[in-house]
Amino acid sequence: MCGIVGYIGSKNVVPILVQGLRRLEYRGYDSAGIAVAKKDQIVRVRTVGKVDNLANKVKLNSEELKDTHVGIAHTRWATHGSVTEANTHPHQALNGKLILVHNGIVENYRELKEFLGPDIQYASETDSEVLAHLIGKFYTGNLKQAVMQALQKVRGTYGIVVMHQDNAEELVAARMGSPLVVGFGDSEYYLASDATPMLSYTKKVMYLNDGEVVDIKKDSLEVFNLKDEQLEKNVEEVSWDDEQAEKQGFDHFMLKEIHDQPNVFQDAIRGRFNLNEGNAHLGGLNMTPTEMSSINHVVLLACGTASYAAQVGKGMFERLAGIPTSVEIASEFRYKDPIVDSKTLVFAISQSGETADTLAALREAKRKGAFVRGIVNVVGSTIARETDGGTYIHAGPELSVASTKAYTNMMAVLFLYALQFGRSRNLPLSAGQSLLHELRRIPEKMNYILNNKDIIKTLAEKFKNYQNCYFLGRGLNYPVALEGSLKLKEITYIHSEAYPGGEMKHGPIALLSPDFPVIAIMTQNQLYDKMRSNVEEIIARGAPIFLVATVGDDKARQLSEDIIFVPKTKRLLEPFINTVALQLFSYYVAIGLDRDVDRPRNLAKSVTVE
Ligand code: M6R
Repeated sequence: MCGIVGYIGSKNVVPILVQGLRRLEYRGYDSAGIAVAKKDQIVRVRTVGKVDNLANKVKLNSEELKDTHVGIAHTRWATHGSVTEANTHPHQALNGKLILVHNGIVENYRELKEFLGPDIQYASETDSEVLAHLIGKFYTGNLKQAVMQALQKVRGTYGIVVMHQDNAEELVAARMGSPLVVGFGDSEYYLASDATPMLSYTKKVMYLNDGEVVDIKKDSLEVFNLKDEQLEKNVEEVSWDDEQAEKQGFDHFMLKEIHDQPNVFQDAIRGRFNLNEGNAHLGGLNMTPTEMSSINHVVLLACGTASYAAQVGKGMFERLAGIPTSVEIASEFRYKDPIVDSKTLVFAISQSGETADTLAALREAKRKGAFVRGIVNVVGSTIARETDGGTYIHAGPELSVASTKAYTNMMAVLFLYALQFGRSRNLPLSAGQSLLHELRRIPEKMNYILNNKDIIKTLAEKFKNYQNCYFLGRGLNYPVALEGSLKLKEITYIHSEAYPGGEMKHGPIALLSPDFPVIAIMTQNQLYDKMRSNVEEIIARGAPIFLVATVGDDKARQLSEDIIFVPKTKRLLEPFINTVALQLFSYYVAIGLDRDVDRPRNLAKSVTVE
């Protein structure tokens, strides 16, 4: 995920910017750059790769960069356009006089390009450069006004910082969806995507909210809303140390990443559907309507958590589009002489985009003539490059070994693909619209669970000393149970298995005892009564039962006192909600057992060997 740093004051700005970028390295990035204001020009230095490369290039240009006190810097995590120096921030407009760094995604950048007309020469493939030119178009001497006017036209997310050569002692920053923090020093101000880069200099910070613009000069700072009304804001004292700051105050990356989900879920779906049409539009599919209608089989290739997202995706494809869909564990698929042909659409699903088995499996599918597309998190990764199109899930860097937010965003993209195929076949408009209405409410419902995490913590404490357990689910909650079980195994080392509710009496029930608990997903959907019967069978065997149930389900209370209540949603969207509850459960069990949550034993984040 991109990172921003800015400074205005009397210190030498270059070391502050470079050091600040280093502090943001944990967010993940693929290129970096700085721009500093001199009396008569703005000097820009950019490189692909690590901040170390940038620091070396800065050294080579030290003469040109010395005695500068205002500047902005950026680490880029590619979204629009490949990893090249031209696409690296800061971007410029007005022949290098106006400079911008941007985090986020400008959804309507194509429209804005049309608005700006054909005369503009773009130096990059980025949406961010379009934003720089848009601000340039409105600039008549007042930088804040130009930013305000431009932002009225922007749809999407942004955290931006802008400077102009003619206002060399001024920085204007704005936020919508992408965080920005202002730090207060002694007659100096810092700006950054989070507080990490400024903690060595100050602990006094102000967090910008969405729709706020801050105009910073050497001796003044004013905050406005987008209607240009001045706002009063509080300055807060940060108590974190540097390491905590990288985790934004959370104790572990896993917990931070679980909490990232409401935001990154929006990143996964934003600009990719049309409510009126009840449809999704994923441009990366790269298929003509005729090719789309020729598809008679969808294959989802993946490993681990991604394969459980795929199992949810299978249910979505079959229900919405009526296309037979198979989930293939990539390490098996590559050796089984798979039956795929030119009527098969294969999705390779991977967070890292580097998983060796998934890569080999997609090559095999390609060799057999299938359409092969990627559903990937890491931009520019091998799987992203080797597929003939596809969609980034926009989960941002996932640093905890146990995957959380990538899983939810994989399911989000699979849902949109299933909807797009469904609408191109028989799915009625009203069904598409009603699903999309509810999809937009998912972040709010995830937040409900995050806000009630203390209950989950208490249940985890009660559970933590069991040595074995089962997870049960039915329908799309079966893969949710599989993922819940994997998460628990990975970070707590408790033995756990997952089954569809109806399978219990075909064998697994033999192990149940007062020492062998079951975590059952019994939310109110079409399979509620069936699941309830399964739960009663378990209770009859004396096994402790922990339930995930729908808010307001009083009958659930008669079955167990250990319940995580989750908000009601449509059956097809339940995995987005129920998963968050189970992630928190595993996390708190692991904490109770004092496990190394972010770095569990024997596991690697990216499995690049067979
Ligand atoms: O990077 P990928 O999504 O391809 O990785 C696949 C699996 O290795 C991964 O999901 C693994 O199961 C994680 N440890 C899950 O937490």
